[in-house]
Amino acid sequence: MERSLILLKPDCVQRRLMGAVLTRFENKGLNVIAMKMLQVTPELAKQHYAEHVEKPFYPELEGFITSSPVVAMILEGTEAISVVRNILGATSGLSANPGTIRGDFSCSKQMNLVHASDGAESAAREIALYFSDAEICAYQPTIAAWV
Ligand code: CMP
Repeated sequence: MERSLILLKPDCVQRRLMGAVLTRFENKGLNVIAMKMLQVTPELAKQHYAEHVEKPFYPELEGFITSSPVVAMILEGTEAISVVRNILGATSGLSANPGTIRGDFSCSKQMNLVHASDGAESAAREIALYFSDAEICAYQPTIAAWV
């Protein structure tokens, strides 16, 4: 079992796409084991996007991610990290395949609706940035045998 940190970004919240995105994760059989709405601060943005801070697009990215609330969640499931990234599609909504969340709903490199951890190490780091152990509600889903 793997865990992945997901952010429904400001464009997802503002466009009322939270339910549509969550439905895809739930339909796939992933477990939501933590979820909350919050405002990302510039400090948190710099920690979250540490690998991008020096990139030319970072100032705009920080402005975007701090512009409006986000929903953070942890998804758990078998190979959850790659399963979620496949559901999202390519980073840019302009090149993401139809049928993926970004391919269906985004036309932007930056406003790509959802962030998801790209590996086990970043998942552990990002989960610790957004959630304390007490906020994680791991449970055994009763439908596990069917998915
Ligand atoms: P995310 O998966 O959250 O990881 C880094 C984010 O930076 C990415 O989604 C986009 O929102 C943003 N991003 C990546 N590349 C670019 C780019 N070339 N121009 C603007 N924003 C970008």
